[in-house]
Amino acid sequence: MADLTTTFCGITSPNPFWLASAPPTDKEYNVRRAFEAGWGGVVWKTLGEDGPPIVNVNGPRYGAVWGADRRLLGLNNIELITDRPLQVNLDEMTRVKKDYPDRALIASVMVPCEEAAWKEILPRIAETGCDGFELNFGCPHGMAERGMGSAVGQVPEYIEMVTRWCKETTDLPVIVKLTPNVTNILGPAQAAKDGGADAVSLINTINSITSVNLDTMSPEPMIDGKGTHGGYCGPAVKPIALNMVAEIARNPTTHGLPISGIGGVTTWRDAAEFIALGAGNVQVCTAAMTYGFKIVQEMVSGLSQWMDEQGHTRVEDVVGRAVPNVTDWQYLNLNYVTKARIDQDACIKCGRCYAACEDTSHQAISMSPDRVFEVMDDECVACNLCVNVCPVEDCITMETLTPGAVDERTGKTVEEEPANWTVHPNNPSATAAE
Ligand SMILES: Cc1cc2nc3c(=O)[nH]c(=O)nc-3n(C[C@H](O)[C@H](O)[C@H](O)COP(=O)(O)O)c2cc1C
Ligand code: SF4
Ligand code: SF4
Repeated sequence: MADLTTTFCGITSPNPFWLASAPPTDKEYNVRRAFEAGWGGVVWKTLGEDGPPIVNVNGPRYGAVWGADRRLLGLNNIELITDRPLQVNLDEMTRVKKDYPDRALIASVMVPCEEAAWKEILPRIAETGCDGFELNFGCPHGMAERGMGSAVGQVPEYIEMVTRWCKETTDLPVIVKLTPNVTNILGPAQAAKDGGADAVSLINTINSITSVNLDTMSPEPMIDGKGTHGGYCGPAVKPIALNMVAEIARNPTTHGLPISGIGGVTTWRDAAEFIALGAGNVQVCTAAMTYGFKIVQEMVSGLSQWMDEQGHTRVEDVVGRAVPNVTDWQYLNLNYVTKARIDQDACIKCGRCYAACEDTSHQAISMSPDRVFEVMDDECVACNLCVNVCPVEDCITMETLTPGAVDERTGKTVEEEPANWTVHPNNPSATAAE
């Protein structure tokens, strides 16, 4: 059976599933129950400065986006960092770490962008016995307006500076949690590396307004008639997170920097995808908030079973496996030709593929009077829109034309040799293939 034990930037946990810093890791009661359920580690809900505790709103703090089956696809929140006194959290962390020495306990921290503030708090937190720090440069609401969270994460110079202060202060691993609210994630990732970070974790939440109440004309969640942008997370953000993780993993100067993948992880498969794109472990928040702590058991058994089937004995064997296959558009093989194929036995004759292709794609699906839908190869550009709108899984698939076959749309014979845009005759600056 595959060994899921993971050592992430020097921190060992029995599996690669950590709870992200958020309500699930807010207090001892939660974290103990999470560990009993099987989570490999937790990043404690972000700790702030000592002093008067943070104040949260007293009305709703979540907005949501659902699928047609009411499944939660995206969650938006306006919650701040911990609103519990620092010492209470520290005492609880100490007790939990003592009772669960084999689990990873990471302290998430956010204090003002002042050297003394960071240098004062880290040693105090380290006394809990925690395994490392995660610097929260990601929260996009509330704290950002106070010059913390994403206000730091959006300025690479600040990231580097604060990371360096922390590395000067502690021997424990320092993970820098990045905000996705930037145009290019590589700047912040590079800054974290330059500051000496042992790893980066991403993504924190994305600026968002999930809905507007049209009766009150206020964004939701609505607090006494007003709303504000919150942070978006859950399954909907996974594609954004995967891309950012992949960008860091494949960039020559950030390649090799350990990455903790966060954003929409709900199943073992999501986790495997993050790991394949370069994450050394994953963190989970929304899935635990939606389905409870025991969801980790399916993640663990699913990942383990899949690794056994694939012949992977350790998580490290999977880390980054898909990275060499992430490329830029100009290197995609333009001699790779596919056509849509409809399984007539599976088709329920709903006509969605026809409407989509006829109205918005390439008029490549015919509809007979008795509603038989067929692909016309001489029109199909293989966009796969029909596959994505068809309500029946695997009813429409894409078939690859073998070299030597003729593409009826272009009249050209499919060539064996790959050729991409860099060598395409239409490219004015065509040079050489990758
Ligand atoms: C209600 C809520 C509170 C959060 N609070 C924090 C926080 O205090 N510190 C932090 O680093 N991230 C916080 N996050 C962000 C999560 O740790 C995580 O980065 C994000 O939710 C994406 O993961 P997910 O899609 O699995 O939820 C919070 C998220 C939610 C939903
Ligand atoms: S792949 Fe695109 S072009 Fe081809 S049939 Fe489907 S929707 Fe039409
Ligand atoms: S969308 Fe799928 S099920 Fe509906 S008509 Fe097309 S192939 Fe059939």
